[in-house]
Amino acid sequence: MAEYPNKVWLNGEILDAESARISVFDRGFLFGDGIYEVMARIRGRFFYEEAHLKRLDECLQKIKIDFDTRMLTKEIPRLLKASDIVENDCLLYIQVSRGVAPRTHAFPHDIPPTVMMYVTPKTLPDINSINASVLTMEEFRWSRCDIKTTSLLGNVMANEIAVQRECYEMLFVRNDIVTEASHCNMFFVKDNIVYTHPANEYILDGITRQVVLGLCADLDIVVREEGVSKQRIPQMDEAFLTGTSTQIASIKQIDQHFYYKGDEIGKVTKKLQNAFLGLKKTGF
Ligand SMILES: Cc1ncc(COP(=O)(O)O)c(C=O)c1O
Repeated sequence: MAEYPNKVWLNGEILDAESARISVFDRGFLFGDGIYEVMARIRGRFFYEEAHLKRLDECLQKIKIDFDTRMLTKEIPRLLKASDIVENDCLLYIQVSRGVAPRTHAFPHDIPPTVMMYVTPKTLPDINSINASVLTMEEFRWSRCDIKTTSLLGNVMANEIAVQRECYEMLFVRNDIVTEASHCNMFFVKDNIVYTHPANEYILDGITRQVVLGLCADLDIVVREEGVSKQRIPQMDEAFLTGTSTQIASIKQIDQHFYYKGDEIGKVTKKLQNAFLGLKKTGF
């Protein structure tokens, strides 16, 4: 069971977690009207901090929440210090909701956003050794999956079905094409070519996805940003997931199809996992 953090940064104040309070009229609570980010701190540095903060900024702009994310770079070190996590690896959670206002669907104007952050100690394994079993289901979320919204009901329902069936993830299939998973991006490999869904409105453009695409370029691995249809799953050679805490996780099984008999990991997946580890060890 995950533990609660000890401190919470809320609208500029650092509070003991149990005394942090928000209004029941906060639109984050009433509508899931907000944006979030999660980033990993590895040996004293956040992994691709700039890219995460840029995505936060862009998502806030997409839903017209007016908040200057630049102030966070000053406040995050303060939170790390108060949480006693300056040296340790951790995950930082940031949430910005539209703020508190009488309940109406249309955006209220001129209200300050509610901004909350906390850190939890977490050391990610060097290489993700999960050999994941995953399921597929028809996409039933919305058509703006590029927005990292706190409205995650579709994602949590899908993940719950996967977990109930002892699987790691649920893949979404839209118009017959595999898009992404409930909290990860999806990659396939066929004939040494890496396939992943293009970064459009049907997926969240994961920072780990972007890092992996960069590694493919460094390693001269050909990439096609193309969706793979559900029918072609058994014809693929390898499949893997990416995400901030998942890192790169090999997939051994999708629905009834097994990629491997035992615990082996595909050649291209392994190469990318090793390159990812190199990046974490030697700097990013
Ligand atoms: C739906 C979805 N896709 C992909 C990702 C992976 O994104 P990242 O690599 O930035 O963690 C996430 C992460 O939370 C997600 O929720």
